[in-house]
Amino acid sequence: MENYFQNAKQKFDELKQKKDVFILGIETSCDETSAAVVKNGREILSNIVSTQIDIHKQFGGVVPEVASRNHILMIDKVFKNALEVAKIESEKIDAIAVTYGAGLMGALLVGVNFAKSLSYALNIPLIAISHIEGHIAANYLTHKNLQPPFICLMVSGGHTAILKVDDFTSHQLLGTTTDDAAGEAFDKVARVLGLSYPGGAKINELAKRGNVNIKLVKNMPFQNNLNFSFSGVKTAAINYVNSQKQKNEPIITEDVCASFQHLIVEELLKKTILACQVQNLKKLVVAGGVGANSYLKKRLETECKKHNIELYIPDLKLCTDNAAMVASCAYFNMLHGKNLVDLTLTAKPTISL
Ligand code: KG4
Ligand code: ZN
Repeated sequence: MENYFQNAKQKFDELKQKKDVFILGIETSCDETSAAVVKNGREILSNIVSTQIDIHKQFGGVVPEVASRNHILMIDKVFKNALEVAKIESEKIDAIAVTYGAGLMGALLVGVNFAKSLSYALNIPLIAISHIEGHIAANYLTHKNLQPPFICLMVSGGHTAILKVDDFTSHQLLGTTTDDAAGEAFDKVARVLGLSYPGGAKINELAKRGNVNIKLVKNMPFQNNLNFSFSGVKTAAINYVNSQKQKNEPIITEDVCASFQHLIVEELLKKTILACQVQNLKKLVVAGGVGANSYLKKRLETECKKHNIELYIPDLKLCTDNAAMVASCAYFNMLHGKNLVDLTLTAKPTISL
């Protein structure tokens, strides 16, 4: 074991000088089993994502135990497929990157243990990646010349935050949600509307055919800080649906979706633009699954133009969970000599932002 780590450390240090570095990423933090090969942190050679959405749909959300079992069933196939699509032999892989948190404990453990075994068997370095930092790195894959510093709007299922990203491996938290994450609010409202899990994308689609004509909350007081709150809007939308049902009044789902989505996006927009102004940064990067929301994108485009801010959003398929973002993030950590770990690595369900 001691030999393993000494050897891994030496290889890790030498990678900085290597012309082309191929990193295999592994991601199993929630309900996607994913493996990817990324060259030099910017070029995707493969990015295999096996989703469990159809399995969890019947339960209305992710069942942690079911997720872990399905990761176990899929991980080896997904890994082999990633090598095949990338047309690369396992011996050519320079390092293994894995999401060690935040996420579901059992689900994370599958990826972490698989990555540890691979690292030991192939005798190559293991790099531990935070899922949140992975989401930021999705942007380095889509926008080849993107460089920090920038403001990042992090909007995933589990996190909503504004970060100041100082360089490729460090950031500061400027604001976060005081209650629900935006994605969580989308999913909960979708559930009450009878839309299947995960509801964010479905609300987005239905809202395109709806009108913002339902007053869900009275005037929302604007808090002059960078924190978010979504539970008021979420509860208002849920109460509206329930009270319409009780009164036997019709529910125009498209209008509820449009009205709810509008309020969530307003909150995200106001705080994000404020963060750019306060920090005097003219570059805004969006990360996480809610970044796939077309209304958020449209509104951000308009606001950023107005305030002369450059806007970066990952390609649609890189917004949600995938292993390419993990491999990309690991590349930049390697360049900064960070996050090399040994085989005592374990999963962490929560990581502070
Ligand atoms: O980042 P992600 O894939 O997983 C976590 O790290 O949590 O984000 C998943 C979240 C879910 O809540 C999902 O409903 C939401 O992203 N989402 C969307 C859209 N696509 C995915 N929310 C709003 N509009 C979308 N188009
Ligand atoms: Zn995620």
